[in-house]
Amino acid sequence: KKPYRIAVIPGDGIGKEVMPEGLRVIETAAKKHGVAVQFDHFDFSSYDYYEKHGQMMPDDWKAQIGGHDAIYFGAVGWPAKIADHVSLWGSLIKFRREFDQYVNLRPVRLMPGVPSPLANRKPGDIDFWVVRENTEGEYSSVGGRMFPDTDREFVTQQTVMTRTGVDRILKFAFELAQSRPKKHLTSATKSNGISITMPYWDERVEAMAKNYPGVKWDKYHIDILTANFVLHPDWFDVVVGSNLFGDILSDLGPACTGTIGIAPSGNINPERNFPSVFEPVHGSAPDIAGQGIANPIGMIWSGAMMLEHLGEKEAAQAIVGAIERTLGERTLRTRDLGGNADTTACGKAVADMVD
Ligand code: NAD
Ligand code: IPM
Ligand code: MN
Repeated sequence: KKPYRIAVIPGDGIGKEVMPEGLRVIETAAKKHGVAVQFDHFDFSSYDYYEKHGQMMPDDWKAQIGGHDAIYFGAVGWPAKIADHVSLWGSLIKFRREFDQYVNLRPVRLMPGVPSPLANRKPGDIDFWVVRENTEGEYSSVGGRMFPDTDREFVTQQTVMTRTGVDRILKFAFELAQSRPKKHLTSATKSNGISITMPYWDERVEAMAKNYPGVKWDKYHIDILTANFVLHPDWFDVVVGSNLFGDILSDLGPACTGTIGIAPSGNINPERNFPSVFEPVHGSAPDIAGQGIANPIGMIWSGAMMLEHLGEKEAAQAIVGAIERTLGERTLRTRDLGGNADTTACGKAVADMVD
C-alpha cells in the first residue's frame, strides 16, 4: 500500500514547538498499526517565510500541497511583526476557502483526571462537538473601506450566507448528531438582533431538521448559549454555529475542560475534492513561544483526527487512548494543566503510552 502523503506546515511560534511532538506520536502509532506515512515539510504560512518573500505563501502553494492526502498544520500569526488579518488571510483562511473545507470540526471533552475550572464536573459531563461553518458567514470578503482618513470614513463587512453553504454545514451536523447516542443538536443563533441572516439560518435549521426525525434539536441565542456552556455543559452533544459563533464556542468549550491547549480541529472538505487541514484550535501563543512549555496535546489529538479522516481508526484510537492516560497523570501534564512537564516530555509520554 502506498504511504499517505502528509504536508507538514509548522507555521509560527508554538506551532513550531508542538509540531515535532505531533509527528513523533503519529510516527509511533503508524508504526505500531502498520500504517505508512510520508511527511513532506513546508516552511510557508509563517512570518519567517513572509520576511524573506514578502508574502505568506508561494504563488503555487495550491500545486505544492493540493495533491497531498492531508495537511498537518501548527499555527500561524506573529502580530508584533505582521497584522493578523494579513497573515491569516494570506494562509490559513486561504486553505479553508480555496480547499472548500466548509466543516470545522472541534471536539470538546473533559479528560479523566483533568480538573475542570467548572465546579464538580467530571468526564462525561463535558463531551460534545462544535461544528463550525468554515467558508462564509461573518468571515466574508464582501465589504470595504471608503473615504479613508476623512470624517466620512466608513467600513463594512457583510455576512454572507448561501443556501448551499448553510445547508451543507447543517446536514453535516445533523448527520453527526444522528450517529451519536444522545442524537441531540443545538444551533447557535442570534435571530433576535441580527435580523436578516440569522432568521435565515434558523429557517434552514428547521427545514433540515425535517430530514432527521430521530434527532432532538434546539436553538439558543449565542449570548445565553455561552452562559449555558459554563452553567450546563452537560446539555450539549452537537453544537452547530456560523463561522464567528463557532469560533467563539470552540475556545470557550475547551476552556471549560481545563485549557485550550488540548483542543484539536479538522478543517474538512467532506467530498474529498481537496485535502483537509488538521490543526490545534489554539494559535501561535507569542506570550509563551520559545519557552518549550506549550501543551502539545492539541497538536497530537489533531493528528489522531487526521488518521481517522484517512480511514486509520485503530491508529487514531490508539493516540486518543494514549492522550487520556497521559493527561490522567499530573506530572506528565504541561503547566496550563497544573503539571510541570515541558512540551517534549509531554509529547514523549504520549508516544510511550501508544499501544
Ligand atoms: P492563542 O491561542 O495563540 O493564545 C491564547 C492564550 O492561550 C495565550 O495565553 C497562550 O499562551 C495560551 N495557549 C495557547 N495555546 C497553548 C498551548 N498549546 N499550551 C499552553 N498555552 C497555550 O491566541 P491569541 O493570543 O489570540 O493569538 C496569538 C496569535 O495566533 C495571533 O497571531 C492569532 O491571530 C493567531 N492564531 C492563529 C490560529 C491558527 O493558526 N489556527 C488560531 C488562533 C490564533
Ligand atoms: C481559529 C482561529 C482563526 C479563526 C483565526 C486565527 C483567523 O481563531 O482557527 O479558531 O478565527 O478561524
Ligand atoms: Mn479561534
